[in-house]
Amino acid sequence: MLPMNDAALLTPGDYADAVTAAVRASAAYYTDGGTPLGDDEYDALLRAIAAYEEAHPGEALPDSPTGKVAGGAVEGDVPHSVPMLSLDNVFSAEELAEWAAGLERRLGRPVAAWCVEPKLDGLAVAARYRAGRLQRLITRGDGLAGEDISHAADAVLGLPAALAEPVDVELRGEVLLTREQFEHANEVRTAHGAVPFANPRNGAAGTLRAKDRPYRVELTFFGYDAVGLDDDLPHSALLERLAALGANTAAATAARPLRCATLAEAQQRIEEIAALRPALPFGIDGVVVKADSAADQRDAGSGSRAPRWAVARKLAAEHKVTRLLDVEWNVGRTGIIAPRAVLEPVVIDGVTVTYATLHNPADITRRGLMLGDQVFVYRAGDVIPRVEAPLVDERTGDERPIVFPGSCPRCGDAIDTTEQRWRCARGRNCQAVASVIYAAGRDQLDIEGLGGTRAVQLVEAGLVTDLADLFSLTREQLLALERMGDTSTDNLLAAIETARSRPLNRVFCALGVRGTGRTMSRRIAAHFGSMAAIRAADADTLAAVDGIGAEKARVIVAELAELAPLLDRLAARGVGTTVTAPRAPATAGARADGDAPRAEAAPAAAAAGPLAGEAVVVTGSMTGPLAALSRNEMNELIERAGGKASSSVSKRTTLLVAGEKAGSKRARAEELGVRIVTPDDFAVLVADHLPEV
Ligand code: IVH
Repeated sequence: MLPMNDAALLTPGDYADAVTAAVRASAAYYTDGGTPLGDDEYDALLRAIAAYEEAHPGEALPDSPTGKVAGGAVEGDVPHSVPMLSLDNVFSAEELAEWAAGLERRLGRPVAAWCVEPKLDGLAVAARYRAGRLQRLITRGDGLAGEDISHAADAVLGLPAALAEPVDVELRGEVLLTREQFEHANEVRTAHGAVPFANPRNGAAGTLRAKDRPYRVELTFFGYDAVGLDDDLPHSALLERLAALGANTAAATAARPLRCATLAEAQQRIEEIAALRPALPFGIDGVVVKADSAADQRDAGSGSRAPRWAVARKLAAEHKVTRLLDVEWNVGRTGIIAPRAVLEPVVIDGVTVTYATLHNPADITRRGLMLGDQVFVYRAGDVIPRVEAPLVDERTGDERPIVFPGSCPRCGDAIDTTEQRWRCARGRNCQAVASVIYAAGRDQLDIEGLGGTRAVQLVEAGLVTDLADLFSLTREQLLALERMGDTSTDNLLAAIETARSRPLNRVFCALGVRGTGRTMSRRIAAHFGSMAAIRAADADTLAAVDGIGAEKARVIVAELAELAPLLDRLAARGVGTTVTAPRAPATAGARADGDAPRAEAAPAAAAAGPLAGEAVVVTGSMTGPLAALSRNEMNELIERAGGKASSSVSKRTTLLVAGEKAGSKRARAEELGVRIVTPDDFAVLVADHLPEV
């Protein structure tokens, strides 16, 4: 991997590799819009190359992309009347301020006004009009000459065949696929058996070049420059003129260009456009700041690559390339079975993305995704990240097909695949059956005799719609069910009765709150001491529990709010009403109302048990008095004895209970010098806390 951090200077070998990688990436980017690198990585690579060349003058390789339009990647055969330049980039408000100060130093006067407009994420084109009629459409190419793409002109909306006036002019601007055009293009392509476009930019590049396609894909033009109109027009007025001639401009959008009197105003407009970005119907990859007046532009002049009077304030890329590791199938509340991509974590615009939506099975097939693929992931603002397409050219041959589930991953029943979105044949009842089975499980309420078949029977008979209903089942109701005799009925009722007084951690766990499993339920129960205190907790209070971050805390609060009716009914049936002393005072945020424990309650007795201060991990199979305990019960035991249970050995681990067939955890504990005991020795240590049999 090449160093992407421009703070560290490249070695000569890495420099040469970086140049090769950048040339390859820009060739792909500017020809078919594909990219083996994300935009942020490409920018970082260019900066590292430029830093090396600055530190080693005279050593720049001839292929180096620095100082070249389109990274030197493309050429064309139609010469441009006036070079089509690129833009220099800045990446922060500070860099923009420095750039503006440099420009004003050069001019020897303040810039009269700025024009701030979106940097459209498409491809630059020049449209030549004679007497108001469109003659030729040309790509930017290397800036001096481009490729003739006139064949694509009539598919480009916003670029009229005839202007409102019979002028000779060359309109310049960006051609892109709006999000809607992109979605539509991929539908049409897949219907024709073609691979979907990885992203809108890639789609625009491919569409502009394609000839003789059996289907039509529309694109959109946004004008931002012209050659041959009045040279003295300020930029903002030039944009108005373009619109008056009939060309589409960004003026018709929420991110419309704005004339700003000061740089502070320009900065503010940049923030506004950046904030609008997720809601815009097309992609932008930055905001362009231009000196508005023609005099300022003329006096500032241009370099060979970019004008000195304009700069792009780049925004973090919304598309990133990462690897598709796995596909999970989750069953929603209505029984919809939705695939979710598990990704190699990737940071998109400051947020680490590990999961992304894949819509539905047909969509996976349409996109031709495989496990192990490099994929484009898209995330904009609060929009749920989604996998767009695989980089087919990057395949190694080790990719594996994605296996679709043959039965409902939650309840095991059949799947209704007649619609695009697959659904458990039980629909909403899948949720009820699954949550009852889960709640009755050994590590939750441990209701013997309430397995899958019985849960299905109870739900289908309409006796149980959720967990609370279990606690009001009558003998008569149960006896009326098929295969329910006196004995099994009495046994089940007795098991339910026992479950009524299970400790708080188990009742909480039985709720199946998203983001909380057995361990987290124990921690929450120990922290708050009662269901009322848990329910009264706000996100800040919950975040005080070990392992709950701000995001998880918010999810738990939302889940508890949704579960409120169920919790009320459980409380009315005496389930989960046990109160223990909380480990932490119940004050901070948890309004200790109702039966919530008092703030001054003593710290849990457990804190003083034989494992006080110990961080314990259990591995291998348990024997002797511990043989019957599940892992969860072992963990409960550890916590009753004052210790902290954890599932993996780390530097913080102080004790490992290693049973038979202990493997890597034992090896790791030995490596770290962690104390290791047998299950029998451990049983002696915690004898007073063992569960009654
Ligand atoms: S002005 C001399 N304005 O970004 C004028 N360019 O990375 C130079 N682009 O080559 C271009 N939106 O393809 C300008 N509002 C905008 C733009 C814009 C997108 C593209 C254009 C340019 C590239 C530079």
